[in-house]
Amino acid sequence: MMTTLRAWTLCASLGLLSVPALAADVAAGQAKAKEICQACHGLDGNSATADYPKLGGQYSDYLAKALRDYKSGARKNPIMAGFAGALTAKDIDNLAAYYASQPPVLARKY
Ligand code: HEC
Repeated sequence: MMTTLRAWTLCASLGLLSVPALAADVAAGQAKAKEICQACHGLDGNSATADYPKLGGQYSDYLAKALRDYKSGARKNPIMAGFAGALTAKDIDNLAAYYASQPPVLARKY
């Protein structure tokens, strides 16, 4: 516990934690993706079946909008409504940044 605290203090004093307030947290996005989304979309966004859209390398604003729209009901899909509904606005930004940071797979299908 103490060690963890010291490590944080050290990082903070070195300025390693001075991430801009609004920047998405890619690592947190990856953790969420691992927990929920990878079952269908793959951890790197390169889903194994055509039933699930490939997300890797997609523009982050497109991904974030899709997730917000599923959450609000503006885009209707019973599967994604459930998963997106459970995400916070921050989760959405983090997930969108994470999948956008993965190698593009959208163009490799054909
Ligand atoms: C049980 C399978 C399943 C899980 C788990 C799942 N999705 Fe999906 N996702 C789908 C399906 C099916 C679609 C296509 C829905 C449609 O036609 O609109 C989709 C669509 C999407 C889209 C829109 C893609 C596009 O090209 O428009 C995004 C973004 C997305 N999912 C992100 C996520 C994220 C982030 C998570 C984790 C929080 C997640 N999904 C979890 C099945 C899943």
